[in-house]
Amino acid sequence: MTDFTGLTALVTGGASGIGRATAELLAARGAQVAVLDLDPSGVEKPLRGYVADVTDDTAVRAAVAAAVADLGGLDILVNNAGIGAQGTVEDNDDDRWHAVLDVNVLGVVRTTRAALPHLRASAHAAIVNTCSIAATAGLPQRALYSASKGAVLSLTLAMAADHVRDGVRVNCVNPGTVDTPWVGRLLDAAPDPAAERAALAARQPTGRLVTADEVAGAIAYLASPLSGATTGTALAVDGGMQGLRLRPVTR
Ligand SMILES: NC(=O)c1ccc[n+]([C@@H]2O[C@H](COP(=O)([O-])OP(=O)(O)OC[C@H]3O[C@@H](n4cnc5c(N)ncnc54)[C@H](O)[C@@H]3O)[C@@H](O)[C@H]2O)c1
Repeated sequence: MTDFTGLTALVTGGASGIGRATAELLAARGAQVAVLDLDPSGVEKPLRGYVADVTDDTAVRAAVAAAVADLGGLDILVNNAGIGAQGTVEDNDDDRWHAVLDVNVLGVVRTTRAALPHLRASAHAAIVNTCSIAATAGLPQRALYSASKGAVLSLTLAMAADHVRDGVRVNCVNPGTVDTPWVGRLLDAAPDPAAERAALAARQPTGRLVTADEVAGAIAYLASPLSGATTGTALAVDGGMQGLRLRPVTR
């Protein structure tokens, strides 16, 4: 028996990176887990994969309904699907703004809307949103992405207030830079990938990138029935980047 034995979970964006690590961890700790993703073809048993684009309300409702039917209910929703965007406020046109907000913000809205009737029926209902340090710190060249994650942070708090009396806890994790396929793609596109990786690692006081497993651990902590008194919080998983101010190393 573990804290997730007998519980069911749905992880969006669960085919890669943080979502994949989370789905695998929840399953290893006893949950029945469904993955909703654009491409869940690589998802392996015991995980169950469901195809949906979180920008498509009809597809999301159908995938959530199918997952809930197969799992026999829903206790935990992890809203993790997200995409990146680079540049200052001048660099992205309206179409790009709409596209990123559609995935990162409205994606959370759509899956939550579809899942809430089932979560209300659970004795251990929890939602965990994957937010970002970009919601709480000003990072260069991330205007659109930061705006989307700022909205996820505010939405987390508002949803926590709206649904606490339904017995649904809502929290988020704020990762720093995590070593996932997404960051791999970013590094590959940089003029000097090794220098870019070193700069990102040095930005975090721990001196290294966060691992997907470390973010999954934080998501599982917030999702667990053992955290029944925790709602409306944002848990930093950023190697100390948000909260610490170190003195420069002197040699
Ligand atoms: N990697 C980081 O440094 C980092 C830092 C902070 C926050 N995050 C957040 O973590 C989450 C996951 O990031 P990751 O690094 O694991 O990325 P990733 O690219 O490795 O995985 C993202 C997954 O989401 C899926 N996805 C993307 N758009 C989708 C859509 N419209 N509908 C359904 N599924 C979709 C992809 O298919 C993929 O499987 C994102 O919300 C991201 O903003 C990442």
